[in-house]
Amino acid sequence: MASEPAITGHYTSGDLLARLNAALTDDGADPDHPTLEALAPYDQFHGRGLAATEELAGMLSISASDHILDVGSGIGGPARYFADRFGCRVTGIDLTAEFCEVARHLTGLTGLDDRISYEVGNALDMPFADGAFDGAYSMNVSMNIEDKTGLYLEIHRVLKSDAWLALSELAQGPGGEVEYPTPWSLTADASFLATPDETRERLEAAGFLVECLDDATEATLASGAQARAIVEAGGKPPHRAVGLIHGDLAPGMMKTMSRAVADGQLVPIEVICRKAR
Ligand SMILES: C[S@@+](CC[C@H](N)C(=O)[O-])C[C@H]1O[C@@H](n2cnc3c(N)ncnc32)[C@H](O)[C@@H]1O
Repeated sequence: MASEPAITGHYTSGDLLARLNAALTDDGADPDHPTLEALAPYDQFHGRGLAATEELAGMLSISASDHILDVGSGIGGPARYFADRFGCRVTGIDLTAEFCEVARHLTGLTGLDDRISYEVGNALDMPFADGAFDGAYSMNVSMNIEDKTGLYLEIHRVLKSDAWLALSELAQGPGGEVEYPTPWSLTADASFLATPDETRERLEAAGFLVECLDDATEATLASGAQARAIVEAGGKPPHRAVGLIHGDLAPGMMKTMSRAVADGQLVPIEVICRKAR
């Protein structure tokens, strides 16, 4: 994989919280008492934002007694969504220390810190016991991880038997090489895209039964068109996480991404699988 400092350097700015607070203030929200709705444009750092999290969660059966793992938890938007919707406990793990600090801060402000905790760590070597979790999800993380079989084996290790794993990922499509920069990497050197078939094979090799692997291209293109229409009408883009995290680089990254999805270089996929053995 790309070195840990290369990945964390890509995501770290040192002033993320100050920039988030300024953005919330500009939206008319109170940065000291933000609601989950006010945070949603910023804390869902993946394609289609909150809609993708809602969709993934809607495919799962989760009870309040469950303990769920968020692999690559970012600044915690998906974790807060799952804990709030299902009343479950969530543990997030992420390589980027600044993201974990901001995630803890926002989770405290939204009153969910009794149910959610965040660890700074590598998804390839997690500090959790075997069979610790009832389910796990990961949203737009594996593009930074070369050893996908290692990733899926490590998630498999920390899940209880028959537990679920839900992924929302960007896969390599048939349309050729992706151009850079993208939100997860400035260059091809730190980007590791697997095709949907390779993703399935690696999950199965790690001991998962793939229950569904859906292509979310159409929904992603529709979401992009809707966002462009809002901006052309003078509004703020509905998904502002890439802008928050990458600042001036964000418009170029977003343009590359939407072109890559439209041209079939990138395929957004949603996968639900189960620990089968
Ligand atoms: C595009 S962000 C997605 C964040 C979050 N899943 C979300 O949807 O809001 C990718 C995240 O993956 C994390 N990441 C990348 N490689 C990782 C690894 N090996 N272990 C843990 N986290 C990793 C990054 O630090 C970053 O927070």
